[in-house]
Amino acid sequence: MRPAQGIAADRKLCRDKPPGNKLRRKIILMPRPRRIEGFAIVSEDGMIANAEGIMPDSLKFEADQQCFERGLDEVDLVVHGGHSHERQPCSYLRRRLILTRQVPAIAADPFNEKALFWNPAGASFEQALALLGTPDGSVGVIGGTEVFGMFLDRYGVFHLSRAPNVRLPRGRPVFPEVPTRTPEEVLASHGLDRGQRQVLDPAKGVVIVSWKRSSKPD
Ligand SMILES: NC(=O)c1ccc[n+]([C@@H]2O[C@H](COP(=O)([O-])OP(=O)(O)OC[C@H]3O[C@@H](n4cnc5c(N)ncnc54)[C@H](OP(=O)(O)O)[C@@H]3O)[C@@H](O)[C@H]2O)c1
Repeated sequence: MRPAQGIAADRKLCRDKPPGNKLRRKIILMPRPRRIEGFAIVSEDGMIANAEGIMPDSLKFEADQQCFERGLDEVDLVVHGGHSHERQPCSYLRRRLILTRQVPAIAADPFNEKALFWNPAGASFEQALALLGTPDGSVGVIGGTEVFGMFLDRYGVFHLSRAPNVRLPRGRPVFPEVPTRTPEEVLASHGLDRGQRQVLDPAKGVVIVSWKRSSKPD
C-alpha cells in the first residue's frame, strides 16, 4: 500500500488536467483529520434507485454530477457497496473500499490495486483504512442504502441533493428508515443540522443541502 503522499501525487495527476477541467485543484500535502462525507441524490420519495435497483436517468443532472465530482475530488478514498459507483474521469485514481459479504474480512481487489473488498462483519473500518494506506484519510461514502445507513452516526457532513417531480415507487431508499421517515428526518435524528439550500439547476429545480454535524462525530 502506498502512503498518504502517494494519494497527493494521485490527486496531482488528476488536477493537472487542462484548464476547463473541473478536477484541477491546489495540491494539499498536509495530513488531515479523518472526515466522513456522504453524497446522494434522491427522488421526491427519498429513493436513490428504482424498484429494479437501477438509478434512472430521471435522477441524473449535469449540475449535480459536477458537484458530486468536485466533492469526491476532495476526499482521499471512496466507500461503497458492490452496486454503487461514481463513474467519473478520475475514478481509476481513487482509493476505495467496496463492501461485500463475499470475503470474510478484507481482501485485495484483483482488478484494481487501489481498492480493497471489505466485510464489516469481519474487520473494522479502521482496520480497512489502515490496510488501504489511508488511516487518517478523508472519506466519501457514495452508497447504497445499507452503506449510507452504516455511517449515519459518523458523517461530518452529508450532501443531499433532491430531484423534484421524480417518484420511484418501491425503489431503493437512501437510508434503511426511508420512506417511514424522510431522509431529512433521518439525518436530523442522527445529529446533523440542515445547511443552506443551494439551487444546482434552476430550470429543473434540483437543489442540494449539506447537513453538518456541529459536534465532533465519534
Ligand atoms: N442516487 C444516488 O445518489 C445513488 C447513490 C448510490 C447508489 N445509487 C444506485 O443505487 C443502486 C444500488 O443500491 P444498493 O443499495 O443495492 O447498492 P450497494 O450498497 O452499492 O450494493 C449492495 C451490495 O453491497 C454489499 N453490501 C452492502 N452493505 C453491506 C454490508 N453491510 N456488509 C457487507 N456487504 C455489504 C453487498 O455485496 P455482496 O452482494 O457482494 O455481498 C450488497 O449486495 C444502484 O443503481 C446505484 O447506482 C444511487
